[in-house]
Amino acid sequence: MRRVLITGGAGFIGCNFVRYLLREDPDVHIVTLDALTYAGNLANLAALPDPSRHTFTKGDICDEALVVGILREHQIDTIVNFAAETHVDRSIFETAPFLRTNVMGVFSLLEAARTVWVDAKGWGREQCRFHHISSDEVYGSLGPHDPAFREDTPYAPNSPYAASKAAGDHLVRAYARTHGIPVTLTNCSNNYGPYQFPEKLIPLVILNGVKGDPIPIYGDGQHVRDWLHVEDHVEAVVNVIRRAKVGESFNVGGGVQETNLQVVQRVCLLLDESLPNSEFVPHENLIQFVADRPGHDRRYAMNSSKIEGELGWHPEKSFEAGLAETIRWYLANMDWVENILTRDDYKEWLARNYARRAEVE
Ligand code: NAD
Ligand code: TYD
Repeated sequence: MRRVLITGGAGFIGCNFVRYLLREDPDVHIVTLDALTYAGNLANLAALPDPSRHTFTKGDICDEALVVGILREHQIDTIVNFAAETHVDRSIFETAPFLRTNVMGVFSLLEAARTVWVDAKGWGREQCRFHHISSDEVYGSLGPHDPAFREDTPYAPNSPYAASKAAGDHLVRAYARTHGIPVTLTNCSNNYGPYQFPEKLIPLVILNGVKGDPIPIYGDGQHVRDWLHVEDHVEAVVNVIRRAKVGESFNVGGGVQETNLQVVQRVCLLLDESLPNSEFVPHENLIQFVADRPGHDRRYAMNSSKIEGELGWHPEKSFEAGLAETIRWYLANMDWVENILTRDDYKEWLARNYARRAEVE
């Protein structure tokens, strides 16, 4: 991993990955390719450690000629694909962008890798790597007593988002088998941490709490997610790219499985501590149960024993400490936040997703 193409690097996890790699590896050169959709933000790549080793290109992963050009021009040896449409609720309203980026975009990246790495250079597993970021959501939903997802759990996606990620994963596997592209894949659980777009649960709760807006919990709030701090996730991905056997996939979970209601209550208590003089203490009073998400998966849980056993990776950040740090980050970066919250397209999204939910309930 010397000359790395990071797609989706202006998004939440991608920008944390770019920062981590520049800080931790003095020899690495990074090209970030990002289409700057509603979720991409150049401010996420501001004040990078050693920006002279980072190049930003605005562009679409579906543009195969562009990707081929980048692979050639920058002599890229590693692709890490974070680019995706990522919000389940948006995938319910409008599915086409998910199929475009999460399926056709992956196809385009694989074709570009095939053209440059396999056909032109004849590179093998020692010379290049295609690492694909996927999700626990491809495995579907667990009952309360089901064992956690393993790497050999059959795919059973339930949302258009999850189905598009599953399709992308299958293409990655197929290109490895058929065309010899050296791939690795990680399926991670719900991430949280700095730079997460405010539409997702944890930043949404923090920011609605700060502003005294209702905190919406879908359904009965008993849905369970497996929360992973973004820094732990980034370290897992770096470990897999550097040390895992080509062709392998790894589940990466935080090991913290709480109901949404418990998570929201935790955030509310931490807000009470951080903002003791707020007129909205106790923030828990802002909680409002609203209409459920259609097809809402009840429970996700990751069995991470493969990456723990084979690569010695473990999540290091406790949920309590990670959440407290995350809240501090949002409070210290309210300019970043306001630049998003005041955008018309974001206000339209909130109206579209939430306006009728409270009425229905
Ligand atoms: P994000 O929505 O914050 O960022 C996605 C980035 O991809 C944005 O910068 C966007 O501009 C870019 N992008 C979208 N379409 C593109 C295209 N066609 N071409 C180029 N760039 C494009 O997402 P995230 O939360 O950082 O997620 C990153 C990856 O991790 C995704 O593949 C996602 O499926 C996966 N994942 C995320 C989570 C999570 O909890 N956030 C959990 C499991 C898996
Ligand atoms: P989210 O952050 O959208 O991630 P994902 O759907 O990928 O798991 O949602 C996390 C959980 O929180 C999920 O069970 C849906 C729930 N949720 C709410 O209850 N209220 C909200 O306003 C949002 C955005 C999510």
